Amino acid sequence: MEKIVALCKRRGFIFQSSEIYGGINGFWDYGPLGAELKKNIRDYWWNEMVRGRDDVVGIETSIIMHPKVWEASGHVGGFTDPMVDCKSSKQRFRADEIYFSAVIVDGKVVGYVSMLESERTTEDLQAKAEAFKRKRAIQGKLEPVQPRDFTQATPEEIPLVPSPATGEPGSLTPARNFNMMFETYVGALREESEKTYLRPETAQGMFADFKAVLDTGRVKIPFGIAQIGKSFRNEITPRNFTFRSREFEQMEMEFFISDDDDWAKWHRYWIDWCRNWLLSVGLPASHITEYNHAKEKLAFYSKGTTDLMFQYPFGVQELWGIAARGCYDLSQHAKFSGQPLEYFDEEKKRKYVPHVIEPAVGVDRIALAILCTAYQEETTTDEKGQTETRIVMRFAPRIAPVKVAVFPLLRNKPPLVEKAKEVFKLLQPHFTTEWDDRGNIGKRYRYQDEQGTPWCVTIDFDTLGEKGPELKDTVTLRDRDTMKQERVKIADLVPLITGKLRG
Ligand code: GAP
Repeated sequence: MEKIVALCKRRGFIFQSSEIYGGINGFWDYGPLGAELKKNIRDYWWNEMVRGRDDVVGIETSIIMHPKVWEASGHVGGFTDPMVDCKSSKQRFRADEIYFSAVIVDGKVVGYVSMLESERTTEDLQAKAEAFKRKRAIQGKLEPVQPRDFTQATPEEIPLVPSPATGEPGSLTPARNFNMMFETYVGALREESEKTYLRPETAQGMFADFKAVLDTGRVKIPFGIAQIGKSFRNEITPRNFTFRSREFEQMEMEFFISDDDDWAKWHRYWIDWCRNWLLSVGLPASHITEYNHAKEKLAFYSKGTTDLMFQYPFGVQELWGIAARGCYDLSQHAKFSGQPLEYFDEEKKRKYVPHVIEPAVGVDRIALAILCTAYQEETTTDEKGQTETRIVMRFAPRIAPVKVAVFPLLRNKPPLVEKAKEVFKLLQPHFTTEWDDRGNIGKRYRYQDEQGTPWCVTIDFDTLGEKGPELKDTVTLRDRDTMKQERVKIADLVPLITGKLRG
């Protein structure tokens, strides 16, 4: 991760927000390459999800909505995370991320060990328990640890569990529920009646506008409403680079189906759709797994939730959630707004509240998964037999921030520069194109490899026809992954690169 974070800063993918003021935790800025990368992700999703389908429409709703929306959705009452403070270190934790266990020797509790959740929670807690026993020279048989998260600690246990910050017991507070919505006030008066929230998800915009979209007459069940937009959550512990941020972007779609339709079939359909979409942006199938939420942990209205998990360098984590939410959201908004949110089936002459399947994903989490997958270090040997390490971002071409770079072989030969400018102007309307005339060609290739540019075009003396008329108006097209160069006619560049991008 350190290498990826460093490359993101060095090359202008992602910066800490407000860095000149020391940064602000949980907020990130996207630099010139990061902004292009994100735009490509958004555009590709929108093209596939909205424009490419005749059963999904796209909308854009406001970030600040009527406060009742958030009462109806359950966010005012229940959008909380359990929070724990360490009084000694002043650090704050999510209680469900602190894992602890009693240390039991010969059937007697002799102390407690704790840690922050990891890929190896049980093994690490066991090692801590062994160290605990050894340090205190306690004789007897150590029992296997039984990890629980801190929300499960009894009042008697709370003072005995060591803080993950200090390793000492006695400083952790009991878990308190903390609402993650950012509050704000609309208008000049900072009164409770004017209080509302920055949206913590885009989904409620689709439910609140369900009737308005239906009334446009454009849609018929089954159909979806999609949107892309910013969401805000005052996360207790933002972490893992952009993975858990306080401001982030979501791409969500609410797919409305009949109340007597086979929800499980549609759920499966959207899980597969999302998985295939992830593969088509270059994520490896080996890194994507499905996690089905346990029935007993689901909200009462939920029929099933499956998360597509991704193997990030810091562990397997949720990337895309696909939830079957029944008719809960529409029914709640109907109740709180007093407006019926029903669908009338013309053929069956029947009114009902549609059910919904919701694929919800974070753009930033996809961008991070793509950055982590793309990053590769390779050892290469040049013509002189010298080896070097090449850092290459192997982005899928459709997602790569820059598609083509154009180089004049030498910057101080006006005919080369002029011709290269011509080629640059030819490509620029079709692809994100970058001009580079600094240093030698080898260095320029390395630079483009590091930002994942799939193709580099070099204009040399052959292009000018200096080695004969047959090479005039041809250039070299260099492929990022194979590092092979082919000689291509300038006139063929646009169709050739367009074809490669589609392929
Ligand atoms: N409407 C349902 C919903 O919002 P969620 O699982 O809370 O469900 C959906 O969020 C997706 O949004 C997640 O799978 C993740 O990709 C992204 N996401 C959620 N919280 C995030 C955060 N703090 N930072 C970045 N992405 C986040």
